[in-house]
Amino acid sequence: MADTPVNTPVVTIPAQEASSLRASDPCVFVILGASGDLTKRLLLPALYNLAQQKRLPENFAILGYALADYDEEGFRQKLAGALHEFSCDGGRPELVEWIRQRSYFINSDFENPEGLATLKSRLAEIDKKYGAGGNALFYLATIPRFFLELPQRLAALGLLRQDNGCWRRLIIEKPFGRDRATARELNLGLAKILGEDQIYRIDHYLGKETVQNILAFRFANGIFEPIWNRRYIDNVQITVAEAVGVELRAAYYERFGALRDMVPNHVFQLVELTAMEPPISFEANAVRNEQMKILEALQWIEPENISECIVRGQYTRANDGSAVGYREEPGVKPDSNTETYVALELHLDNWRWAGVPFYVRTGKRLTRRDTEITIRFRRAPMQLFRETDISRLSPNALTLQIQPAEGVQLTFDAKVPGPEMQLGHVAMHFAYADYFGDVCRTGYETLLYDCMLGDATLFRRADMVETAWNAVEPAVEYFDAHPGEGLVTYPAFSAGPKEADHMLNRAGRNWHAIG
Ligand code: BG6
Repeated sequence: MADTPVNTPVVTIPAQEASSLRASDPCVFVILGASGDLTKRLLLPALYNLAQQKRLPENFAILGYALADYDEEGFRQKLAGALHEFSCDGGRPELVEWIRQRSYFINSDFENPEGLATLKSRLAEIDKKYGAGGNALFYLATIPRFFLELPQRLAALGLLRQDNGCWRRLIIEKPFGRDRATARELNLGLAKILGEDQIYRIDHYLGKETVQNILAFRFANGIFEPIWNRRYIDNVQITVAEAVGVELRAAYYERFGALRDMVPNHVFQLVELTAMEPPISFEANAVRNEQMKILEALQWIEPENISECIVRGQYTRANDGSAVGYREEPGVKPDSNTETYVALELHLDNWRWAGVPFYVRTGKRLTRRDTEITIRFRRAPMQLFRETDISRLSPNALTLQIQPAEGVQLTFDAKVPGPEMQLGHVAMHFAYADYFGDVCRTGYETLLYDCMLGDATLFRRADMVETAWNAVEPAVEYFDAHPGEGLVTYPAFSAGPKEADHMLNRAGRNWHAIG
C-alpha cells in the first residue's frame, strides 16, 4: 500500500455533513435597526447560510424595524439585494424567496410609541401565522445609546415576558459600556427587565471557527495539555492586527481607542481560551466559569507599571503616501491623542501561568490583517550543538492562526543536510482549507443558531463583562487623565511602534512576525 503523503487529508468531513441537522426552535427574529450595515452584511447572509444548512425551521419569520425611506415591499427588495451581494453563492433563488416571503417590516423610529405598539401587534400576528409559539429574539442592531432604552420600552409593552413556556431573548453586541461603571450600569439596567439567561451578549470573536477551535485543539488532543503551562512555555503572544484604518467610525473610535475597543473584549477572549483550565463539561456555565477565572486572575496594570507594560501608538501617514495618518482621517481631531495601537504585557496570577508573560497587541493600519496566538516554548535545557551560535537557535513555537488564513503551525529546528551539524528553522503547517475546504460563513451563524436554541456558551455573561474591565481600568483611567502621555507613533502599514519591540527585547524576547 502506498504511503499517504503528509499533506493529504485523511478525513474530509465538511462540517455541515458531520453535524446533525437540527433546526433551531421556532421563532420570530426581530431586527431592531434593520436598515443598517450589520443587517445587510452579516445578519441576513448568516440567516441565509443557516437556512441553506436546514437549521431554520418552517416556523420562522423575520420582522425588521427601522426608520427608513421604504416600506415592507422595499425591505423585502433590499433583503433580496443584500443576499445577492453578500451571500457567498450570490443567493440561490429558492432560498432567497424562502427568506423574502417570511420577512416583514415596520418603518418607525425607536422612540415612537405608535411604532412600538405596531411592533407588538404585528409580532403577535406573525407569531400566529408561522406558529412560532410565542418565541421571539430581539436583535439590537442599533447604536449603543439604545442598548438599555429600547429593551426598557419593549419590557413596558410586555414584549420580554416569557409566558406559557415561550422564550423571549435579547441579543446585544459590544461595546458593553466604556468602562466598568458604565458596563455595570448597563448590566443592572438590563437585569431589572430581563433574566440573565435572556440576555445574549455577542463578542463576534467567539463566532469565529478558529477561536472556538482553540478549545478543541487544547482539550480534544492529549499531546498539548501536558506542556501547556509555565514549565514548558516561556511566553504567549496574541496579535490582532488590522490593515484597515479607522474608516468612517471616527465618532465612535475617538471615544474608545484601541485599548477599549479591542482589549477587554476580543483580545481577552483569546487570552481566556488559551489560558483557561479544562471545563468539567461544555455546558455554557461550565465553560464560562473557567473563562471567568482567567479574567479574575489577570493582574491589573497599575499606573506605576504603565510605562513598562503598555505601549500606545497612533498611525501616521504611510511612508509611501498610500494612506493618511490617523489625525488626518475624516472626523478625527487634528490633535487627537486616541491610540490606534496598543501592546500590553499581561500576567496571570494562577498556578499554571505564574511568571509567564502574555504579550498582546492590536492595532489598525498595520502591515497586514493577521490574528494569531503564538505559544513560545522554553529553549532546550542544554546547548548540545556547541558550534551553533546560540542566538540562532530559535525557541519552538506553536501558532494558532485565526484570520485571514486559519491554521496551526509548529516551528522547530532541524539539521540542515550536509556533513556539518548545522541547524535550520523549519515549520509544520496545517491549513483548515486543505482539510475542510473553504466553508463560507459570516461568523454569526453559530451565534444566532445557538441563541435560537438557548445555548449561551459563546456569549458574555454580565460578570465577565465587568471583570474584564478590571485589568485595564486603572490604565484607561490614567490615559483619560493624561491623554497624550507616552503616546508614540508608527507609520501606516508598518509593524507598529518600535517601543513595542523594546518592551519584549528588554526581556530578551521578540515578537512573532506579523503575517
Ligand atoms: C470590532 C472593532 O469589534 O472588531 C473594530 O470595533 C475592529 O474596530 C473589529 O475593526 C475587528 O473585527 P475582525 O473580525 O475584522 O477582526
